[in-house]
Amino acid sequence: MWFQRMRETLKPYVIDFEGVRCLDFGCGLLQWQTIMLNSLGAKVTGVDMEYIRTDRRLDKYLQIWKTNTPERAIKTAFWDYMYRRRYLEALEDCSPFTLKMDNLDFRQLTSQALPFENDTFDLVVSHEVFEHIPDVWAAAREVKRVLKPGGLLYANVHLFPSISGGHHVEWKYPDETPSQHVPPWDHLRGKKFPDHPSWINELRERDYKPIFEGMFELLCWEPSVYEGVHLLTKEIRAELTDYSEDELLKKGVILVARKAAQQCF
Ligand SMILES: C[S@@+](CC[C@H](N)C(=O)[O-])C[C@H]1O[C@@H](n2cnc3c(N)ncnc32)[C@H](O)[C@@H]1O
Repeated sequence: MWFQRMRETLKPYVIDFEGVRCLDFGCGLLQWQTIMLNSLGAKVTGVDMEYIRTDRRLDKYLQIWKTNTPERAIKTAFWDYMYRRRYLEALEDCSPFTLKMDNLDFRQLTSQALPFENDTFDLVVSHEVFEHIPDVWAAAREVKRVLKPGGLLYANVHLFPSISGGHHVEWKYPDETPSQHVPPWDHLRGKKFPDHPSWINELRERDYKPIFEGMFELLCWEPSVYEGVHLLTKEIRAELTDYSEDELLKKGVILVARKAAQQCF
């Protein structure tokens, strides 16, 4: 679904991905955007703070152990052996085209600086990553640096005030499987049921927009999807007056931003 949404949103700017130089910023363990763009003929590189590889050799897990945590190495090994094959089959099933797994290119980030020359990529894609970055301004600036003049950033940013924005595992799918014991929007209502999700910066839409607007030409800024509508009671609304109804119900934003054809760093 999200890949189809990306293709639709980018249609006015990119129709054919063949040969397009792409960066999947924060590709993650699932690498779905990297795999799918690769399958459409793009020359794509996936980068992540984590060490990403598709094979199951021992040195991969040792490297994750060294550069991340032993827990992450064990979890990745478990996922690779138990779920990866089934995950790829499911991805193939929902893909309108055949998946190509050859020539996948992944790099691990060891700092905020992207390990690429200026003006390298035609397109940077990023799905639910910016909310995990402490200095969004610096990251956006790095993305801009590695984009070619006229190049595009397509990002889906998960917003903190949304019902799933606290990243509590029990609120990952609020409409399909609402939590039975953690109250909705608990992360904004005193966080009485803390979880141990991945770190998030807690920024709101109004914090992100000026960053991207100030650095790029914003071609699109739209809601990703709305969620939790039937769970926002009058009582919860009355508690959360700092937030608009739109903020509480909007899961995220999708943005398309263009680097100026004339550079002015
Ligand atoms: C919610 S996951 C999304 C992963 C992937 N984009 C997806 O849709 O499946 C967030 C990813 O961002 C990565 N990440 C966090 N901070 C990052 C940074 N500063 N630079 C690159 N990746 C980062 C994490 O390691 C994690 O893989």
